[in-house]
Amino acid sequence: MVPEFRNDPMIDFSVPENRRAMEETLARVRGELGREYPLVIGGQKVWTGGRIRSINPSNNRELVGLVAKATAREAEQALEAAWDAFPQWSAMTAPARARLLFKAAAIMRRRKMELSAWEVVEAGKTWDEAVGDVNEAIDFMEYYGREAIRLAEPHELTPFPGEETEAFWIPLGVGVIIPPWNFPLAILTGMTTGPVAAGNTVILKPASATPVIGAKFMEVMEEAGLPPGVINFLPGSGGEIGDFLVSHPRTRFISFTGSMEVGLRINQLAAEPHEGQIWVKRVVAEMGGKDAIVVDETADLDAAAEGIVASAFGYQGQKCSACSRAILVDAVYDQVLAKIVERTRALRVGDPAAAGTQVAAVIDQAAYEKILSYIEIGKQEGRVVAGGEKGDETGFFIQPTVIADVNPNARIAQEEIFGPVLAVIRARDYDDALRIANGTMYGLTGSVYSRDRVRLERARREFHVGNLYFNRKCTGSLVGVHPFGGFNMSGTDAKTGSHEYLLNFLQAKAVSEKL
Ligand code: NAD
Ligand code: ALA
Repeated sequence: MVPEFRNDPMIDFSVPENRRAMEETLARVRGELGREYPLVIGGQKVWTGGRIRSINPSNNRELVGLVAKATAREAEQALEAAWDAFPQWSAMTAPARARLLFKAAAIMRRRKMELSAWEVVEAGKTWDEAVGDVNEAIDFMEYYGREAIRLAEPHELTPFPGEETEAFWIPLGVGVIIPPWNFPLAILTGMTTGPVAAGNTVILKPASATPVIGAKFMEVMEEAGLPPGVINFLPGSGGEIGDFLVSHPRTRFISFTGSMEVGLRINQLAAEPHEGQIWVKRVVAEMGGKDAIVVDETADLDAAAEGIVASAFGYQGQKCSACSRAILVDAVYDQVLAKIVERTRALRVGDPAAAGTQVAAVIDQAAYEKILSYIEIGKQEGRVVAGGEKGDETGFFIQPTVIADVNPNARIAQEEIFGPVLAVIRARDYDDALRIANGTMYGLTGSVYSRDRVRLERARREFHVGNLYFNRKCTGSLVGVHPFGGFNMSGTDAKTGSHEYLLNFLQAKAVSEKL
């Protein structure tokens, strides 16, 4: 009997033993930096001539690891291996597949501190953010294992005299999984093990900024007893092997999470059939956001400022769910802005390996340059009231930046910056605030701080985002609690961590026999 799903608990780092244990774990992980990791194809470790260099974003001299880089040749082999594994894996019962996920979840739980330490050094996560990410990975496996079992139940059909009827779900086939780096274990694990729980086999191409965490995921899956070829680990260039796999006629589906630009390109490439292809490829694409928090004059203004700062600068603003627009009604604009600035200036910026750090470096050189260039644009489009400059140059540090008096149509209010930059926008009143909130091409998360019931109910209907929150921050969705996915250019609204998610990777078969 599988117990009811519950989210995994955080580690309380205010407890001295936990703090000490994390410091020891970080020291142990530091002793393992610089190692090499192979591709895994059909259960075999494969070394290639190329390497992806993974460096610590907060200390650029520190090499986290070197991961073998695949070419089209290995991509072809991986497709072959995944199709070879498909008949046996898809024929396995749902409880048997779920068992593998539960075992992997148990291993991750035992290794929670170690995996969190890897996230600190490879992704620049602070301790709590890192543990939150590992917890979410565990939750996804626990949840999707249960979902696979639930979905194996026969469908309810209308009885028809003289026929015996049945309908059931079957997997699609071989899929390509392309996750982002910003939730390097959680999103990668959820995107990979969801389709696998449903009976598909996959090729996992991790993001090039966090391939070592991808390799750790493979270690866990192998230890859990993953049969060869069910998950093939294929780090490599998005442009090179990504395009190859997306276009390949034997690819049945693509599950992507990342930027709108890449997601739309994948959607377009996948739509074009190729010689020998016998299906319409299914594309799940979860993409960017330009998420807003609205504050009206009835709100608890301290709580609102607190929620805005946490949502804007948690993980350096590098969350699709991050608040990048604070929309404040005129009556409380100056008051809330002052509170935001005060809290932003008080943030502890530094090495995420140190307990208590709240904001660390951004992921890589390209992100660093892009964010700094947006700050320069922001200096023309508004008034910098906090930050506005780069930080310590041992890593890709950027000061948490608040830019006030931004026009709703300004570039920094419309384009995803994906860094620690908050645009603050003045709205005439609540109507105007809601109009501004809906005034981008995205629709991922949003939040409203208000004590007015009528206004909250209006936002419930009219604030057009996939994940809407009231009187709380707009980041930190939990598996099973907040099904996650966005509207409009934020994606296909696949709703990760929900009862609907596995249906993205299944097709229904109906069978009827005349009696
Ligand atoms: P990205 O689009 O640059 O890369 C995402 C993945 O796509 C990576 O694995 C990358 O290697 C791969 N890729 C790049 N070019 C490719 C190509 N031509 N073909 C196939 N694959 C290719 O995004 P990123 O920088 O890794 O992540 C940040 C973005 O992800 C932000 O826009 C953020 O909002 C979004 N995101 C969305 C969600 C969500 O649930 N909606 C969650 C996390 C991140
Ligand atoms: N699920 C993540 C969050 O809500 C993106 O912050």
